[in-house]
Amino acid sequence: MSAQGFSILPGPLLARRTSMGLGGHALAEIRVEDPARLDNLPEALQRIGGRPEILGGGSNIIAADGSLPLCLLSLADETVLPGREIHGRVELRAGGGARLPVLLAVAARLGLSGLEGLSGIPGSVGGAVAMNAGSYGVEIFSRLARAQVFGQSAGLLERGPEGFAYGYRHCALRGNTGFFLIASATFLLTPSNPKTVRAAIRETLKKKRATQPVAARSAGCVFKNPAGTSAGKLLDEAGMKGRAVGGMRFSTLHANFMLNTGLGTGAQALELLEMGREAVFRRHGLRLETEVRLWP
Ligand code: EPU
Repeated sequence: MSAQGFSILPGPLLARRTSMGLGGHALAEIRVEDPARLDNLPEALQRIGGRPEILGGGSNIIAADGSLPLCLLSLADETVLPGREIHGRVELRAGGGARLPVLLAVAARLGLSGLEGLSGIPGSVGGAVAMNAGSYGVEIFSRLARAQVFGQSAGLLERGPEGFAYGYRHCALRGNTGFFLIASATFLLTPSNPKTVRAAIRETLKKKRATQPVAARSAGCVFKNPAGTSAGKLLDEAGMKGRAVGGMRFSTLHANFMLNTGLGTGAQALELLEMGREAVFRRHGLRLETEVRLWP
């Protein structure tokens, strides 16, 4: 490990780092190895230039083609470890860079229940917390005990859920301006047994596979659900299922999933996104809000 708590890698290619397989080169990637030693980070960000963005699993991003004026920050900590038992519940701590499926696999092995509804989400633990990922009635914040977080203006802190302003697919660190990095997150889970937890995960995955193109190159749902309805249903009714621009296409299984069928580009993704938004507006008078992050 370097003397400071991070290392700098030049020019990462986003097409290799995002589940959509889209995007050109960013300026640099700052890989955080020790969030307690980030004193030199502001100077490094200044020197590299561009807008800082956090790269977790890359599973909720549509990145543009060409050279991108972005400085990426990523987390090296991928560990998942059980912790204390508190009032009949057990803590499970994960580094922000750990993959959510790995967290679920460890929870299953230890027979810890509570996060099964999130199975099938491919992102990182840090990314899942930073946008309060959810599915099948489980939002990740419902099981969050605390997180170690580095805020651009706030520095390194440990915060419980009350330290964040969070809601549907949204989370902000209170008292911070600029970016924040979820360095690690500790969840409070309910002791069950491995067989039961595994069965619940299998059940969720089965449901997901029947309704979502889980194996395709996508970024999950591209639009947020408007209150009381499903963006997928609205896109479907507006005739967007299967509609394509170049190599990008709305899934025929679930219209809110945009797929890269092979040689799609960022420009095609954006064109198709706007086409979908327009079609829903014409048909339903509702303006869909994007759920995926658009870079830059
Ligand atoms: N539907 C259609 N056509 C479609 C898609 C859906 O008619 O093309 C209908 C379905 O038949 C169902 C209703 O719309 O009656 C709702 O569909 P679904 O159960 O698939 O849920 P959703 O509202 O489309 C949300 C989340 C998903 C999450 C699922 C399961 C959002 C934007 N989407 O989808 O999250 O996995 O519920 O809990 O909140 C994501 O965030 O990336 C994501 C995929």
